[in-house]
Amino acid sequence: MSATHQLRCTNCGVTIDAEAVRSDFRCPDCKGLYEVIYPWSASSGTQSASSSATAKGEVRLPNPGGLRHLWQERKTSTMAVDQSGVWRFREMLPFMRDVEKVVTLREGNTPLYEMPRSAEIAGVDWLLAKHQGMNPTGSFKDTGMTAALSVAVERGFKWVACASTGNTSAAMAAYAARAGLRCIVFIPEGKIAWGKLSQSMDYGALTVQLKTDFDGCLKLLTSLVQKFPIYLLNSVNPYRLEGQKTPAIEILEQMEWQVPEHLVVPGGNLGNSSALGKGFLEMKHLGLISRVPKISVIQAQGANPLYRWFGDNNREMKPVAAETRATAIRIGNPASWLKASRVIEETGGWCEQVSEQEIALAKAQIGAEGVGCEPASAVTLAGLKKLVAAGRVTREERVVLLLTGHTLKDPQFTIDYHKGALLTAAETAGATDVEREQNDALRKPPVVLEADESVVIKALEARMATVGSK
Ligand code: F0G
Repeated sequence: MSATHQLRCTNCGVTIDAEAVRSDFRCPDCKGLYEVIYPWSASSGTQSASSSATAKGEVRLPNPGGLRHLWQERKTSTMAVDQSGVWRFREMLPFMRDVEKVVTLREGNTPLYEMPRSAEIAGVDWLLAKHQGMNPTGSFKDTGMTAALSVAVERGFKWVACASTGNTSAAMAAYAARAGLRCIVFIPEGKIAWGKLSQSMDYGALTVQLKTDFDGCLKLLTSLVQKFPIYLLNSVNPYRLEGQKTPAIEILEQMEWQVPEHLVVPGGNLGNSSALGKGFLEMKHLGLISRVPKISVIQAQGANPLYRWFGDNNREMKPVAAETRATAIRIGNPASWLKASRVIEETGGWCEQVSEQEIALAKAQIGAEGVGCEPASAVTLAGLKKLVAAGRVTREERVVLLLTGHTLKDPQFTIDYHKGALLTAAETAGATDVEREQNDALRKPPVVLEADESVVIKALEARMATVGSK
C-alpha cells in the first residue's frame, strides 16, 4: 500500500492502492473516476462534510491554527516548494514521496481582486475575483499541472500527454519542458485560441491538431495511453485536482479565514469545480473552517450538458454537440460531471447557463474594471447576474468569481467584440435594452487618424465634449 494515500472510485466507492491505477485513470469495474484520499480524509468521500469518521481512524494533521501559521510562514522562505502557491499547502496534498521531485514554476499565489463595478452590475454589495489567469502560463491549469506532472516524474515516465481546448496543453508543455519530459498535445483543429496554441509550440510540445472536437481528442488519447507508456495529464488524473483545490485555501487565507457565501466557477470538463469543492470540504472536515461556500457552476448555453442534467427528471447525462466562442469550455461530454454535480448538491449551489451575448458583455465588463479575463472565465459574472435575478444569491452575500484564464489568451475575441464583429444578429437579438446600452458604452474600437497634431486635437476635443475632460 502507498504510505501516503489511496485512490477511491467516486462512483462505486472501491479503494485501491495508488500504484494499481490503470493508465486511463478509470475504475476497471464501473469506469468511474478516482479521487485521492489520505489517512485523514472523511470515510465516505469528500462528499461527506462529516468530521467524525476518518478512513484510518485518526486525523494525523497539526491543529488548524498550527497549519495556518505554517502556511503563512512559508511565504517568506526562499525554497521553491515554499514559494509555490500549491506546495506551500503540502500538508493538504501529501502524495509525493519525495518533495525534491516536485516540478514548480511558483504557480498559485494569485490575486483576489475587489470588483466594485461588477458588483453593482450584478446587484451584490461585495464581489471578489480570484484571478487564476495570473498563473505562470496564464490559467488555473498550472496549479493542477505542477501536482500531476510531479507524480509523472516520481513514477519515472518519459512521456506525458493531454487532450485540450488549449490551456491544459499550454500548462503541460511548460511543466514538461521544466522537467525535461517529452509531451504530446491533442487539440481540436481550428477551435482553440491562438495564444494557447502558440504556448505549447513555444514550450516545445509535439502539437497534434485533430480533426475532431475536444471530446474526440480525449477519447483517442485515452485509448493511446493504454498502448504506450504515456502518462495522461487530463483532469481525469486525480492528482490534477489535488493541485487545483489549493486556490480554495488561498481564497480563505486572503479573506482572513472568513468563508465567502458563494463561489462561482465556469464549467467545461468539470474538473475544476470538483477540485475546489474537494478543497473546501476537506478543510471543513479538518476543522480549518466551520462551513463551506455554495459552489455554483456556469456553462455556456451551447455546451451545457450539466445544466441539462440538473433539469432532467431522469438524471441521465446526455452528451451534447458543443458550440461556443468560449472555446476553453467547448466540451459536450464532461469527464468529471458526477464529481461536480455532487459538489453543487452538497454545497447548496446551482448550475446555470449563459448565452454568447451574455458572455461577451460580461467579459467586457470585467475588462473595463481593469482586470480582464478570457471568455470562458466571464461566464462567472454572466451567471452571477442570473443567480441574483432569480433570488439564488442575495445582495448581502459575499461572492467570489473564479476567473480561470488571462485576457491575453484569446485577444481575437476581444478585438472582434470591440469592433462589433463578434456576434451574429441572431445572437444579439436576445439582448435587453439595458444590455444594448451597456455594450454601446463599453465598445472601444481603435481609431485610425493621420499623424497630424491638428487632426488628433480635433478628435480629442470631440471625444472630451462627449465624455468630459476631467
Ligand atoms: N476556464 C478556462 C479558461 C479553461 O481553460 C477551462 C478548461 C475551464 C474554464 C473549465 O474548467 O474543464 O475544469 O470545468 N479547459 C480545459 C483545457 C478543458 O483543455 O484547457 P473545467
